[in-house]
Amino acid sequence: MAERTPVIAGNWKMNTDVESGLKLVKKIFEFSEGVSGVDKIVCPPSIAITSIAQTLAGTSIQVGAQNVSANDDGAFTGELSTSMLRGLVSHVIVGHSERRAMFGETSDQVAAKAIKAADAGISPILCIGEDLAVRKSGKAAEYVANQLEESLTGYSNWDSLIVAYEPVWAIGTGEAATSEQAQEMTVVCREVVRKLAPAAADSVRVLYGGSVNSGNVAELLAQPDIDGALVGGASLKVDEFSKLIAAAGSS
Ligand code: PGA
Repeated sequence: MAERTPVIAGNWKMNTDVESGLKLVKKIFEFSEGVSGVDKIVCPPSIAITSIAQTLAGTSIQVGAQNVSANDDGAFTGELSTSMLRGLVSHVIVGHSERRAMFGETSDQVAAKAIKAADAGISPILCIGEDLAVRKSGKAAEYVANQLEESLTGYSNWDSLIVAYEPVWAIGTGEAATSEQAQEMTVVCREVVRKLAPAAADSVRVLYGGSVNSGNVAELLAQPDIDGALVGGASLKVDEFSKLIAAAGSS
């Protein structure tokens, strides 16, 4: 079985401004720089990416974007391209359920973004997950497998991919999936990768996201197929986020 370095990635969403974001990363640095064996990533709002990337340069904390365009340049008001992000970020979240639900992103568009990012040397953190109605219908595994397969159409840069299983019903609700549910679904994701790229299945990192906090992280990370967490609310609290990093790494 391939060794997979755990990942703790913070998705700040539309929170913080440049000044408070800088304060936050300085504190995260202070509390977690001594922790190794874990990939630490913060994904601030795009306006703060440049100054945060400069502040974190040379540290063990990496910077990610929350979204990227699948287009190179041109008349795409409000969008950011991979060439603008290159050099500043190591990762980009694509297909977050909020973007799918509120901004109408389709799995085809998500696939195009993931390919574009990987081509630019930026690792996509590709999100998929079922909503409550699908979960209640008993078809979550089938739904997530299809959604992931569609979101990986044409994708080939397997070393760079991170998958994040994020059930919509667990995001921001304070009600995380149980570790059994999360384990079961991360296996579903890994099996999709096995089908598309057999050699990558045991090395691709599959994260869980949805109300991860310092109280539930250990049990989630103890599952054999959960390689880390994509964290929303708790990533904005220095104390909580540092505990998540400590739980995934070693000091
Ligand atoms: P949450 O968000 O940790 O606040 O539930 C997770 C996410 O949306 O990535």
